[in-house]
This record gives sequence, C-alpha cells and structure tokens, in this order.
Amino acid sequence: MFKESDKEFSFETEILSKGVYIKNPTTNPEVAPIFMTTAFNVEDLDALEQRYDERGFCYNRNRNPNRSALAELMTYLEHGEDSIACSSGMAAISTAALSIVKKGDHILSDMTLYGESMEIFSDLLGGYGVETTFIDFTDLELVKKSIRPNTKMLYTETVSNPMITVPNLRALADIAHEHGALLVVDNTFMTAALCRPLDLGADIVVNSLTKFANGHSDAVCGALTGRADLVAKAYHLQVLLGTQADPFSSWLVQRGIRTMDLRVPKQAENASALAHALAKSPYVLKVNHPSLENHPQHELAKAQFKGFGGMLSIELPDDRQKMNKFMRALHFAHYAMTLGGYRTSLAYPVLSSHSDMSEEERLKIGITNGLLRISCGIENTDDLVNDFLEALEIAYKD
Ligand SMILES: Cc1ncc(COP(=O)(O)O)c(C=O)c1O
Repeated sequence: MFKESDKEFSFETEILSKGVYIKNPTTNPEVAPIFMTTAFNVEDLDALEQRYDERGFCYNRNRNPNRSALAELMTYLEHGEDSIACSSGMAAISTAALSIVKKGDHILSDMTLYGESMEIFSDLLGGYGVETTFIDFTDLELVKKSIRPNTKMLYTETVSNPMITVPNLRALADIAHEHGALLVVDNTFMTAALCRPLDLGADIVVNSLTKFANGHSDAVCGALTGRADLVAKAYHLQVLLGTQADPFSSWLVQRGIRTMDLRVPKQAENASALAHALAKSPYVLKVNHPSLENHPQHELAKAQFKGFGGMLSIELPDDRQKMNKFMRALHFAHYAMTLGGYRTSLAYPVLSSHSDMSEEERLKIGITNGLLRISCGIENTDDLVNDFLEALEIAYKD
C-alpha cells in the first residue's frame, strides 16, 4: 500500500514509492494500473473548469495519470520544481530547446554530444534562424569567449556521448547566468542516482529515460525537469507538438526506475573495473572513462558525481575484420543501438549515433574508425572483464 506521508526517508527507500497516483484507495493495487484512455469524462461544465484548475485529467495529450506519475517521480529524482514526461529523449531535448530559443537567438553547445541532438540544433533549429556554435566545453575560457549577447542556451551532456568528457556544470551554470542564458543538461548517461545537474546550477535537465533510468531496454521515453516557470513553457509546447509520453511507456519506465538505485551504481562499478582492465590491455589503444586517473577530468568527476557512470569508450586499431572477430568472440556484450540496459551492450558511433557527420567532423571530436562505445550492464564483474580480455586475445593475438 502506498501511504502518503510527509516523513522523509532516504533516497533508496523513497524511490520505491514516489509518483504513484492511485487516488482511489478502495482497490489499492500493489502496482498502479495503466490508464489506457484518450479522455476522462466530466459531468458538466463546472466540473470541466474544476479539472482545468486542479491540473486534472481531461484529454490524453494534455495529461494522463501514468504520465503525471512519471513526471512527479522525475521531479523528485532530479530535485526540480516540476517535470514533463516525453515520448523520447529526443522529444524532451527538442521541446526544451524550442521552449527557450527563437529566431535570431544563439545556442552555445558542447561539441561532443549525441549526434541527433547536434542535428536538432544545427539542422532543424538552424533552418528556423537559430545559430549554434559547437565548442569544447571542458575549456571554460573558450566558453566565456564564445558566448554572445544573443546566446539564450548553453547545452551539454553530464558525460559526453561517446567521448566521455566531463564538463564542469557549476562553472557552466555561472557563466550562463552571468550572461542571462540558461544551462540545459542532458543527464541520460549518469541519471539522478549519480548526478543532479539542477543542484549544480542547471536550469533544465533532460533525460532519455529509454536508457539507464528504465534500464530494461523495453520502452522509449524521456523527461524534462526544472524550474516551474520553465517547465510550464515546455508543457505548453508539448501539448501543441504532441511530444507526450504514452501511458504504457510511462508505466514501464516508472517500474524500471524503482530499481535504478541498485542498477546504476553496479553498472558504474562494472564500467570502472572494465576500464581499468582494458587500459592495461596491449590491444586497446585508448580507454575513455572518468574513473581512470589519467582521464583529463578525473578529479572533477570525483567531485561532481556519486560514481563514474556505466558508459565508456575504447579505441581499437582501425581494422574492421579484427573488430568483427572481437565482437563475435564476446559472450555477454552484444551490439545494440541503445544503452543503459541491464545487459552490457556495444555501439559503433561511426555507423550509428554519429553516422550523419562527415569523417572530418567526426575525427575533430575523436570519433575514429576504431571507436567502440560500451554500456555496462549488471553482470558479475569478473565474468564481464574476463570475457572482454579473452575476446581481445582471440581477435588480436596475431
Ligand atoms: C545522451 C543521449 N541523449 C539523448 C538520446 C536520445 O534518446 P531517445 O532515443 O530516447 O530519444 C540518446 C540516445 O541514445 C543519448 O545517448
């Protein structure tokens, strides 16, 4: 039974019951039902007005109990004032950007981002008269120099995809605010279990809940969380654009999040162990993970995060045949065009997340033909590490 109470408990306890939305306690289901309905009936016009006033449920594109429950859970997780749950991570990112910028505005963005986020800024918004500059956000002097009077949004990922660089969120928030801009952070790779960008000064945090938050690779969903006035603008836009999360995905993701605080730290532990083992392998040219002492932002990551995250990338020699042999030799890690699931998966940015970039653009940010992105699951750590080492030996020993 989900008792409503003002008493505060620890995160690992509260994550099990926040954002429930079962207003009829007579049935008291152990798990919230799924409200698969397009609309909710009202008795008369007074009742309709009351529903509007109370942010109640009328039409599914506006509000639905499962979506509201997920949004409420996200507000709790990310320490925001309010949230909207969206149909995907990209829906959350595009809704956030469109609610902040208009024709003539400028976006300053980190240069290593999920490829489709870059396309939203440069191609989609570029076509509507919004200019974006992509720069290295680990260089704060460059950030200060690149900000313009019309810069309305600074945009970054907590840990960049796929180069695993770590921007200083507090410093970026300060720079944004000094110049009247907002800082928007994509927290997909870390989740609120390891980092809360809003606590570090960000104005809006976006999440692809498809990934670590849900963790079961069975739903596409996203969320946007932040200050109530900013979320209200994004909500208005969401209703117009129809970027809302559907009830079933909202329900699945809420279920997934219940165990996030067990999964994500374990995934981060596995990633650290794998990164350290691969860094010693004679076959791996480079390992990118903030747990490594030689990672350029290792100290910052230690201070900014509760763990180093479940994502790493490695650079192998540019040899397609050997890479194929290595992938085939692995028992657990398998290729999947997603990340954050409970099983370890691999992705090849050249052919997936960054396939729309020219080779020159890719190489500028370090995405070589040998780069593999690894999303760690919750397997036994020794099993996982040994499997990688054995597969490398099989593929590269001669
Ligand atoms: C960092 C990051 N943000 C956003 C997205 C987009 O999420 P979705 O696929 O849920 O739209 C992805 C997808 O891989 C991602 O890696």
